[in-house]
Amino acid sequence: MKILVSEPIAEKGLEKLVQEGATVDLKTSLTRQELLKIIGEYDALIVRSNTKVNEELYQKATQLKVVGRAGNGVDNIDMDGATKRGIIVVNTPDSNSVSACELTIGLLLATCRNIPQHHIRLKGKVWDRSGLKGMELLDKTVGIVGLGRIGSLVATRLKSFGMKIVAYDPYISDSRFQHVGVEKKEKLEDLMRVCDILTVHTPKTEETYGMIGKEQLAVAKKGLTVINCARAGIVNEVALIEALKTKIVARVGIDVPEGEPEPISPLLEYDNVIVTPHAGADTKEAQDNVGVTIAQEVISALRGEMVPNA
Ligand code: NAD
Ligand code: MLT
Repeated sequence: MKILVSEPIAEKGLEKLVQEGATVDLKTSLTRQELLKIIGEYDALIVRSNTKVNEELYQKATQLKVVGRAGNGVDNIDMDGATKRGIIVVNTPDSNSVSACELTIGLLLATCRNIPQHHIRLKGKVWDRSGLKGMELLDKTVGIVGLGRIGSLVATRLKSFGMKIVAYDPYISDSRFQHVGVEKKEKLEDLMRVCDILTVHTPKTEETYGMIGKEQLAVAKKGLTVINCARAGIVNEVALIEALKTKIVARVGIDVPEGEPEPISPLLEYDNVIVTPHAGADTKEAQDNVGVTIAQEVISALRGEMVPNA
């Protein structure tokens, strides 16, 4: 079992692979050309979100049997290309949900209270709160788009702030809304009209990419706060910038700006936009969980055993 790990995973995960008898090459600074040159030697490849596992790579990966996505979203992996070749793709959808949820709450509080802006001023020896009045969460309405693992965790936590929670997710049952204790909105526009804070938690798919765009922001309440700790582009960045200019959107918190991993998104220029570099899963706990889980799954898949997240 020869495994290439092309992005950092927890030491515990690497140890597990070795304990199970795999030969592991940890090569996290390969150029694309270098990766394409050597991928043909490997039975399995473990990636996070930066490595694009696509047709170009599959064509060179003549021995590849398993792709391990150390994390949740598989939007950097061409699933059809893998299926066509009988390559198994495994991921760890549950392992980092709590961390992603907690960063969502962190971004939400940071944006609503302008914490990074205050921090920057005071570190620059300027004691000045002007222009940075915050917004209280009590009695505000938060709209959650995508009431899956992370959306539900966010809902549960925000209730303790005394917020009203509404959600839009056409793919889950009414009983799921009831179980989480949130009000269901049948249409995205109905949610956009009532929420003070919008937070998106859908996967990135053809359907969700750009789903919060010009039309949706046009019906939003003036002064909306937008949080995206899911994937770049689910909230269309051009429409978002326009809405910031017209003050429909007052503040934004984003974990994954467009252009990842290059810091090139125009949103980075705006003071009322708080950004983190896809750090949602970057906690010790989440990375240990993800590392160990992906190691176990890749080994099981290579051995032809049952894998829960294949
Ligand atoms: P999940 O699959 O558990 O939940 C996603 C929900 O979105 C599902 O309930 C689904 O029905 C719903 N959905 C799908 N299409 C929709 C649509 N068009 N409109 C409304 N709802 C729709 O996923 P999850 O584990 O909660 O992850 C949510 C997102 O967070 C994913 O994009 C994932 O990649 C991302 N994520 C980010 C980080 C990070 O580091 N920032 C960490 C983990 C996950
Ligand atoms: C995920 O999809 O798991 C997250 O975005 C975190 C990651 O890719 O590390």
